[in-house]
Amino acid sequence: MVMAIMTFSKANETVCHLRGQPSYPQLWKDGDIIVGGVFSFHSSWEVRQLTYSITPPPLKCIRDFQYAQSMLFAIEEINNSSTLLPGVSLGYRIYDTCGSVAVGVQAAMALSNGHEKTSVEGPCTKQAEVQAIIGDTTSSACMAITKSIGPFKLPLISHYATCECLSDKIKYPSFLRTIASDYVQSRALAELVRHFGWTWVGALRTDDDYGNSGMATFTKVAEQMGICLEYSLPFFRTYTEDKVLRIIEQIKSSTSRVIVGFLAHWDLEVLLHTFVEHNITGFQWVGTEAWISDSVIASMDKHHIFQGAVGLAIPKTQVTGLKEFILDIKPLKSSGSAIFTELWEALFQCKYFNDSTYTTACTGKEELSQVQNLFTDMSLMPIFSNVYKGVYAVAHSLHDLLGCTDKCATKKQPDPSTVR
Ligand SMILES: *[C@@H]1O[C@H](CO)[C@@H](O)[C@H](O)[C@H]1NC(C)=O
Ligand SMILES: *[C@@H]1O[C@H](CO)[C@@H](O)[C@H](O)[C@H]1NC(C)=O
Ligand SMILES: *[C@@H]1O[C@H](CO)[C@@H](O)[C@H](O)[C@H]1NC(C)=O
Ligand SMILES: *[C@@H]1O[C@H](CO)[C@@H](O)[C@H](O)[C@H]1NC(C)=O
Ligand SMILES: *[C@@H]1O[C@H](CO)[C@@H](O)[C@H](O)[C@H]1NC(C)=O
Repeated sequence: MVMAIMTFSKANETVCHLRGQPSYPQLWKDGDIIVGGVFSFHSSWEVRQLTYSITPPPLKCIRDFQYAQSMLFAIEEINNSSTLLPGVSLGYRIYDTCGSVAVGVQAAMALSNGHEKTSVEGPCTKQAEVQAIIGDTTSSACMAITKSIGPFKLPLISHYATCECLSDKIKYPSFLRTIASDYVQSRALAELVRHFGWTWVGALRTDDDYGNSGMATFTKVAEQMGICLEYSLPFFRTYTEDKVLRIIEQIKSSTSRVIVGFLAHWDLEVLLHTFVEHNITGFQWVGTEAWISDSVIASMDKHHIFQGAVGLAIPKTQVTGLKEFILDIKPLKSSGSAIFTELWEALFQCKYFNDSTYTTACTGKEELSQVQNLFTDMSLMPIFSNVYKGVYAVAHSLHDLLGCTDKCATKKQPDPSTVR
């Protein structure tokens, strides 16, 4: 863990120094005021035993890349603006959390304390490195991150963590979000089920805070409405085959024809393969925002498992210029950032550096129009918009705090505890 702590030595002096290894951001730019970001560019859940001695598997989460691009777009736009934070330049530090809660906490610690390996005489009174952190994508990661940085009163603004549990202001005082809480979604799903007169249903949920909390509320409300649950089963993408088979058996032997799925999209992607294998078809599905309008799930569903699926989606929205910004990948090539090089290689299935296992070498002249992949898919625009709104929320707070009108009274980083 990167953590600055005070050690009291025998010789009556306090020294502030970094514990553990320094951790560096994947993307950064300096400015008068720095905004932090935590996203998951790599995904590590396939490596069940994360040892930290191996490098994470190659770039997987193109989507989180789009979230990071949305953040960069908002920062650049605000930087360009002559009315919002005039004369103040915004910088950023964006960390890759590799889909891991532990790595997320480490990144958040680095964002609050700085990542340099320094020793300072005297107590650790230096200011947080960033003003606020944008991210993370999952509810479980947000819970862990906001708990660990909570004492520093550093706001964490999530674009996608919907768990109702995060609304607890006593436990998570510095957590904010630009997406609705599942308090609303769980109730609306129960209403939906009642609306169609389905009183005998089964339920599947992701076995994490998102699924468990969301399903608990759904169950409570549904029971009050006279809806009976035949079964309610947890699932997680790392479950063993045995456990998954038991879920399949339960669904096969059930008499209800409706399945309510409070599931994260990557869990459903894993389940989908098993459903196909076991011919689990003919069910009416009711789904959450995490998968109901997911283009990947839709394109994977060649066997029409989800042919009858209704649910709730995040309202459609547009951010002018963002699509063009994301698709303009030329600047990435020259940015010199390793993560962009890796993105380029993942997008075009090529390698910049000589490696005998890859036959194609990147030329740098590749065009996005040659490939069809997730990166060009803008269907998650509502979530990009949430990232964008989060950055703007920080900028507007700063604008007030710095006493800006036509000009800002100061460029000094304010104390994060005052950002609201
Ligand atoms: C601790 O150090 C400070 C300054 O270095 C000195 O003024 C103070 O008397 C010391 N206290 C003790 C208990 O030695
Ligand atoms: C913000 O603007 C300053 C000055 O115009 C520039 O140097 C800096 O690169 C810009 N930062 C971003 C993130 O665009
Ligand atoms: C910011 O300004 C620069 C220079 O005028 C321009 O090239 C860039 O597209 C602008 N960025 C955004 C996000 O508006
Ligand atoms: C699924 O259905 C196909 C064709 O109807 C059949 O061949 C296959 O054995 C079934 N698989 C299972 C696991 O029931
Ligand atoms: C790969 O490396 C070999 C020698 O290490 C070099 O001769 C060759 O030109 C390199 N190929 C590319 C495409 O860079």
